[in-house]
Amino acid sequence: EKDGYDWFMRKEIHEQPRAIADSMLGRRDASGALQLDEIRISEGELRDVDKIIVVACGTAFYAGLVAKYAIEHWTRIPCEVELAHEFRYRDPILTRDTLVVAISQSGETADTLMAIRHAREQRAKVLAICNTNGSTIPRESDAVIYTHAGPEIGVASTKGFMTQLVACYLLALYLAQVRGTRYGDEISSVVRELEKMPEHVQRVLDESGPVHELAAELRDAKSVLFLGRHTGYPIALEGALKLKELAYIHAEGFAAGELKHGPIALVEDQMPVFCVIPPQGRDFLHDKMVSGIQEVRARGARTIVLAEEDDDSVAPYADVLIRLPKVPTLLQPMVAVVPFQLFACELATQKGHDVDQPRNLAKSVTVE
Ligand code: F6R
Repeated sequence: EKDGYDWFMRKEIHEQPRAIADSMLGRRDASGALQLDEIRISEGELRDVDKIIVVACGTAFYAGLVAKYAIEHWTRIPCEVELAHEFRYRDPILTRDTLVVAISQSGETADTLMAIRHAREQRAKVLAICNTNGSTIPRESDAVIYTHAGPEIGVASTKGFMTQLVACYLLALYLAQVRGTRYGDEISSVVRELEKMPEHVQRVLDESGPVHELAAELRDAKSVLFLGRHTGYPIALEGALKLKELAYIHAEGFAAGELKHGPIALVEDQMPVFCVIPPQGRDFLHDKMVSGIQEVRARGARTIVLAEEDDDSVAPYADVLIRLPKVPTLLQPMVAVVPFQLFACELATQKGHDVDQPRNLAKSVTVE
């Protein structure tokens, strides 16, 4: 059942192109308009939504952080993202016009379930993004977008996360369509970009050789940092989480702009620092990130840089350069996360850890 792979996790990482394609399937009607499954919230109600709150835990929470960028950009609806276990304890402001989006691969995460129960008691509408048909969270929601990753066996979420990203983009675009905040042409062109993602992700997988060498090299690292900006920031967090849970190495993700406000004090000679470089664009995002790498490198860090394939500006500051296909900034998480998944899987394998069953963890956390 592992199809010749040593771990379910490695198999699931390689299934991602297929998982993305399946999660995109049948989302457009004959006219090209987006349609999503089991949206039992009327279009009128969706037009009245004045705030979105995404609730989730762990890796699903990071998908939520990416969702915020997409939702606010395409719909202009204010969007907050909150750890599900923190949500109800702060008495969040919820009304009939609040849309709470719960993201959960398993659909059984108790923290997320309790958050949506609280939201519904307060009359908010709840939409679930979930990979498990008929699980508790979608059953208790007003609407569901199912991801089609297929069963995820490895405890660490990979294809689950990837398809959560797809669902978040589709939700954002669907809301933009219903509310008329974006033209149909623009929506179709993003959907076409999304339809190309399986190919891009496949290329990242095919060209992942350097990640394996890197794992051998960094086996004895005591601490690893991950930096990103914009949608690269949640991916930095995800890269760090994967390394903690699989390789048991201390790792932290930061928004690169935050470095100078404290974390840069951690940087020591030869400390590995992974940097996600945004696509080269007209704004200053890319250049700001490049100066972030320079700062850590000047303090002795060993920089492992993920950048667009034709981005020549980073080469002088990269000890190791990992090339990513050219994709729009909002979609970059889908390609940037893959080397991090492979790296954590490989490093844990080399350290002799059980990759599919990391210590102290369970696939589905059904207690609060
Ligand atoms: C990390 C991981 C966890 C889950 C989290 C939420 O690799 O798998 O952080 O993402 O426990 O689980 P779901 O999505 O099932 O609610």
